[in-house]
Amino acid sequence: MKIKTVFTELLGLDYPIIGAPMFLVSYEEYAIAISQAGALGAFPLPNYRSTGDLRKALQTIRQATSKPIGVNIHLSGRFPWKEQLAICLEAGVSFFISSLGNPALILDDVHANGGSVFADVVSLEQGLKARDRGADGLIAVASGAGGHCGTIPTLIFVPYLLQKTGLPVIAAGGISTGEQMAAALAVGACAVVVGTRLIATLESRASPAYKQAVVKAGPEDVLTTAKITGNPATWLASSIADFERQPSLQSRTWRDLWSAGQSVAQTDAIKPAAVVVQEMAADYQQACQKLSQSILET
Ligand SMILES: Cc1cc2nc3c(=O)[nH]c(=O)nc-3n(C[C@H](O)[C@H](O)[C@H](O)COP(=O)(O)O)c2cc1C
Repeated sequence: MKIKTVFTELLGLDYPIIGAPMFLVSYEEYAIAISQAGALGAFPLPNYRSTGDLRKALQTIRQATSKPIGVNIHLSGRFPWKEQLAICLEAGVSFFISSLGNPALILDDVHANGGSVFADVVSLEQGLKARDRGADGLIAVASGAGGHCGTIPTLIFVPYLLQKTGLPVIAAGGISTGEQMAAALAVGACAVVVGTRLIATLESRASPAYKQAVVKAGPEDVLTTAKITGNPATWLASSIADFERQPSLQSRTWRDLWSAGQSVAQTDAIKPAAVVVQEMAADYQQACQKLSQSILET
């Protein structure tokens, strides 16, 4: 059974689920598995060191699937975003998550190719700015999300942005089960971004130790700190403790710092990404049935 929202209609998906773009974690095999499963697989463009590598990855994806895929694009002078954009459009990428910079820079080109641009936001101020710059929608990055996170819980932030901006809103942060997706859709989200849960999948490029740590951790083991990147982000406390003992990034790499959100609470096994998507969709349907049965006629 499919789950229909304005977002699934916009992109032609079976399920309103986005496999999150994750630095050093989500690459082509991850995007293929998730998109083939009926959701939207995405990866961040900085995962590819050169535009040649990006082109190759997109070729691999296109040989495996013609389903929609998404990317996270950094619209800052530090990244060759114009060239990256052209390569992505040529490969038929239809969904762009903009972070850093002005989404207006890419809107015309993306729209001309039938795609859409949603902006990552952690506050109403950022949401209004993105709306005024013409973004097609917003990604509400909530507290407890993996990676750079917000401060407002999903169930409050989504309806707040929706009401104040009038744009379609996608929920990101703390969603890893069908029940949680039902809650996010109930408060108005048109889709959900799932990150932390998908670190522990066969297709993620997290190291085996990182995947195991995500499976083992509880939400108490997740620390939010701005110390590492300058912006609040969530980390497995154990990897930060190591970092604090030996803070020089010359002897360590980003791969030693394990980001994960509070959804570690519901991440209890390493599975194929497609299974995570299928389980979420099935559990969503069950949750909706259970809720509708709870309404008694009087
Ligand atoms: C390890 C990791 C790396 C991430 N890297 C990126 C990134 O490069 N670009 C981006 O837009 N979001 C990034 N995110 C955020 C995710 O795209 C997504 O918004 C978030 O994981 C959703 O919350 P959840 O982890 O609670 O599911 C990252 C998240 C994690 C856990």
